[in-house]
Amino acid sequence: KGKRAFIAGVADDNGYGWAIAKSLAAAGAEILVGTWVPALNIFETSLRRGKFDESRVLPDGSLMEITKVYPLDAVFDSPEDVPEDIKTNKRYAGSSNWTVKEVAECVKQDFGNIDILVHSLANGPEVTKPLLETSRNGYLAAISASSYSYVSLLKHFVPIMNPGGSSISLTYIASERIIPGYGGGMSSAKAALESDTRVLAFEAGRKHKIRVNTISAGPLRSRAAKAIGFIDMMIDYSLANAPLQKELSADEVGNTAAFLASPLASAITGAVIYVDNGLNAMGVGV
Ligand code: NAI
Repeated sequence: KGKRAFIAGVADDNGYGWAIAKSLAAAGAEILVGTWVPALNIFETSLRRGKFDESRVLPDGSLMEITKVYPLDAVFDSPEDVPEDIKTNKRYAGSSNWTVKEVAECVKQDFGNIDILVHSLANGPEVTKPLLETSRNGYLAAISASSYSYVSLLKHFVPIMNPGGSSISLTYIASERIIPGYGGGMSSAKAALESDTRVLAFEAGRKHKIRVNTISAGPLRSRAAKAIGFIDMMIDYSLANAPLQKELSADEVGNTAAFLASPLASAITGAVIYVDNGLNAMGVGV
């Protein structure tokens, strides 16, 4: 009891990160979040002004408390990596200590340790371009923001994670099956994330007794998904073709994350867990 979670990739109340925070809070965890620097201001303002109060309601009627919001840009590991134009950018200059290493140091200073680490972030600047038309820079940016960001987070947080702790990321079936429209190297980035889940499960398991899993989630109308442009089609496709013909709710992914973070999942590590109404099991659309 009394576990502490750090959830990277929460900037509104629509995405998987928010739903995971709620499920963990409902299970009694203390919630810390990492919010992308350019989105920090509006997120904190909205939170303060009560804009999210309705979606903060937990099953017992209380409101989810976020103990602390940390600015984070997961494509930078330490201050030396930050280029001048970002450093002087108005939105970044207003915050400090937002590289991965610094955030981990701040969490250590503030709280000492955590039990649960969640990576719920991705970014691919060329996601709307087919892979054949993706530039090297676009591809590498997708991998940096969506895959290495997880390696870096775990690397910097694992020293302050209690043994028996659990780490979770979010992936998508486009890593293993062809999903036209999920371009820009994002399919490649998710394949890397899933492979890394296995290797990191071995390394963090042996060395720190930490479990590492990833949730392959079905389509959700999040801010990031809307930017890709085909999310309504994917939701309709799932409704028409999945074994369970219902819209997937973010809470169902949140609840799975809470399970994976709990002792109920104490022998599960290195796994890709599908939370997609079973769509992954279909061979043809019917
Ligand atoms: P979201 O928009 O709620 O979450 C993505 C977050 O990543 C945003 O808060 C954004 O500010 C943050 N972010 C982007 N670049 C960042 C950086 N450099 N540093 C720190 N934060 C950064 O959208 P969603 O869809 O909930 O995404 C969460 C995870 O779920 C992602 O890994 C996504 O690929 C995955 N996923 C989403 C699906 C969907 O249909 N929405 C399906 C399967 C997986």
